[in-house]
Amino acid sequence: MDTITADGSHARTVEVALAGRSYPIHIADGLLAEAGAAIAPKLRRPSVVIVSDETVAGLHLETLRASLDGHGIANRTIVVPPGEATKCFDWLERICADLLGHGIERSDVIVALGGGVIGDLAGFAAAVVLRGIDFVQIPTTLLAQVDSSVGGKTGINTAHGKNLVGAFHQPVLVLADTSLLGTLGEREIRAGYAEVAKYGLIDDPSFFDWLEDAWCAIFAGDPAARIRAVETSCRAKAAVVADDEREHGRRALLNLGHTFGHAFEAAAGFSQRLLHGEAVALGMAMAFRFSADLGLCPAADGERVAAHFHACGLPARVGDIGNDIPDTDGLLALMARDKKTAGGRLTFILARGIGEAFVARDVATDDLRAFLDRELAGR
Ligand SMILES: NC(=O)c1ccc[n+]([C@@H]2O[C@H](COP(=O)([O-])OP(=O)(O)OC[C@H]3O[C@@H](n4cnc5c(N)ncnc54)[C@H](O)[C@@H]3O)[C@@H](O)[C@H]2O)c1
Ligand SMILES: [Zn+2]
Repeated sequence: MDTITADGSHARTVEVALAGRSYPIHIADGLLAEAGAAIAPKLRRPSVVIVSDETVAGLHLETLRASLDGHGIANRTIVVPPGEATKCFDWLERICADLLGHGIERSDVIVALGGGVIGDLAGFAAAVVLRGIDFVQIPTTLLAQVDSSVGGKTGINTAHGKNLVGAFHQPVLVLADTSLLGTLGEREIRAGYAEVAKYGLIDDPSFFDWLEDAWCAIFAGDPAARIRAVETSCRAKAAVVADDEREHGRRALLNLGHTFGHAFEAAAGFSQRLLHGEAVALGMAMAFRFSADLGLCPAADGERVAAHFHACGLPARVGDIGNDIPDTDGLLALMARDKKTAGGRLTFILARGIGEAFVARDVATDDLRAFLDRELAGR
């Protein structure tokens, strides 16, 4: 759906089609100021609890509250510290205690205003408090707008690893205001952009073609380019999720680049040293080179992927992320932790070309080992 707003800019809507739980993702510049009007029809009583982090609340909470106030929607806010460490049992408990202490009712709605950390944490709180209440996502990072706010995965990290405790809980509405990305640092934009490029690489070669020209406009904040990038990404993820909500099959394609990427992220201790999107960019470039090595994909496609990431300032070679890298055995061990192996063979997302990713269930560990040796030697 495409509507032109009063100021002439484009507003898009992507429907996430799930039986009985379908919901729209509205995408536009300046949407936060209209949040009250968009949320009001979703409420059984005019009352919401906003969950946000300190950084985002300092920048954007007032706009949201003014819009809710303007529509007579009572609201209060739970503000948590920014950062991945907040996605934990302790903060989940504190949020649930706060909600229950203030007498939350089944008919109330939680509004998650923030990046993927807030969406996952507040979404999980909404999934479990009173056995589940409705929630609205207002994603404020590029990564959250194109990835984490779509698909209903919510959860927290534990001492045993990331995202290991959680629930599928779909929001009732997603509002992606691309103007909010204006306060996000360039490095965060770039990291989120890796997930945008991923959708082109999975199954939309013409989108990747477009990105090779449009990435500068996306990074520079051009509203039309950002809206198109977010819309295409949400549409792609929504289609996969509608097909395979609980990740039994096709949804695995969304993990393109993530097996390699997670190994480097884990090696960096999931820290600011290497952001998730940076690791995924490197991982995708490696998945294409590995595919080429196995004779599945033209080498030129792998080179094109790497050239694009380098142009954007994203890593595409192991040497791009510094020197403190595990050896082949170390990387294999980190990957094995992440993956289910069956009889020495691994499941990987590989590609026959740009826009032709597929799930390969029979990758031989020996081939992987030889590939990693070459990657580490060549850096
Ligand atoms: N549920 C899913 O399907 C899914 C998918 C991908 C990632 N994730 C999760 O998402 C999380 C990462 O999300 P993220 O990258 O958005 O991280 P984040 O939520 O930590 O946000 C990154 C940083 O940017 C700040 N920030 C957010 N919006 C801002 C804005 N508009 N202006 C200025 N600063 C802003 C935040 O305060 C934070 O410091 C991870 O926990 C990951 O596991 C979930
Ligand atoms: Zn990712």
